[in-house]
Amino acid sequence: MKAIVYYKYGSPDVLKLEDVEMPTPTDDEILIRVHAVSVNRSDWEGLIGKPLYARMGGLLKPREHILGSDIAGRVERVGKNNHEFKPGDEVFGEMANYGGGFAEYACARGRILALKPVNMTFETAAAIPQAGVIALQAIRDKAQLQPGQKVLINGAGGGAGSFALQLAKLYGAEVTGVDNTGKQDFMRSLGVDHVIDYTREDFTKNGKQYDFILDLIAYRSAFAYARALKSNGTYYAVGGSVATFLQFLLFGPWIRRTSGKKVRLLAVQRNRKDLESITELCQTGKIVPVIDRQYPLSEVPEALRYLGEGRAKGKIVITIEPNKKT
Ligand SMILES: NC(=O)c1ccc[n+]([C@@H]2O[C@H](COP(=O)([O-])OP(=O)(O)OC[C@H]3O[C@@H](n4cnc5c(N)ncnc54)[C@H](OP(=O)(O)O)[C@@H]3O)[C@@H](O)[C@H]2O)c1
Repeated sequence: MKAIVYYKYGSPDVLKLEDVEMPTPTDDEILIRVHAVSVNRSDWEGLIGKPLYARMGGLLKPREHILGSDIAGRVERVGKNNHEFKPGDEVFGEMANYGGGFAEYACARGRILALKPVNMTFETAAAIPQAGVIALQAIRDKAQLQPGQKVLINGAGGGAGSFALQLAKLYGAEVTGVDNTGKQDFMRSLGVDHVIDYTREDFTKNGKQYDFILDLIAYRSAFAYARALKSNGTYYAVGGSVATFLQFLLFGPWIRRTSGKKVRLLAVQRNRKDLESITELCQTGKIVPVIDRQYPLSEVPEALRYLGEGRAKGKIVITIEPNKKT
């Protein structure tokens, strides 16, 4: 089969389209003919090997050679412990180890996959899993929003952010989105109340405070984030630097004791139920999964470059249709 592979951390130039062996499903896995796979920042991080947590699968060089987390496709073969899916079923979901999806076939764990709604395209289905579930667990479960509460989403113009800001609006919050200059209008188009351009303004220094902050890209000190919270406010980081995460573990309990503010890291739990919940919101049109661009498999390097250069608004999707140019 064809796949986009890499053997060392680096720029998109280290990615190559190669013929590789087809993966074989274990008893818990399902072999899927991939029709679409979306690009996440986790792919970019896995490519460049930064932040440090992106090297968990190999400190000096990647142990797994295929990136790509969020797949949608057709079941080819099922391992013997999978009783819910059968060959021919259209499924979608996240890969267990955040990789293996930039390929014509992939093996995924059955228990974190879901049946693709029949009226949803493979491309839209592939855009949902990682970004949608991050947003759901942060906004529905952690924020517990009351209408009118003030929410800030840092990195709101990207994948998870574009889902999160729509979800926060759905719960009646007053939402501020933070992202680069080129994504201000995009955030407005999704219904955000206020925008901040992070290249011009630091939201932790402008004196404004929020009930809930979701941070997709945390690089500041724990104390800076606490400053941007109202008393009893809550901050959750999902992505960012390991040094910042360590600060949350070290200083988070002390900040809580002295100010009542919670500064924490969200470890997202992948599961079918949440994937189905966020997908239902997309099906009913309450949330729109925004696909900025689509590329064929051979152009994964360009797709990742586009994301890495800070241009991707919402999601980027790779299409791998049979009989079409890969
Ligand atoms: N905790 C968990 O369990 C878990 C699970 C899965 C994924 N993750 C993490 O979740 C994170 C979110 O991923 P995603 O796919 O939503 O990323 P994304 O699509 O790249 O979105 C991030 C957004 O943040 C913007 N940004 C960059 N620097 C910024 C800054 N200083 N201030 C404000 N915004 C900034 C980016 O714009 P630019 O284009 O300007 O860079 C981009 O629009 C990733 O780091 C991933 O590793 C965590």
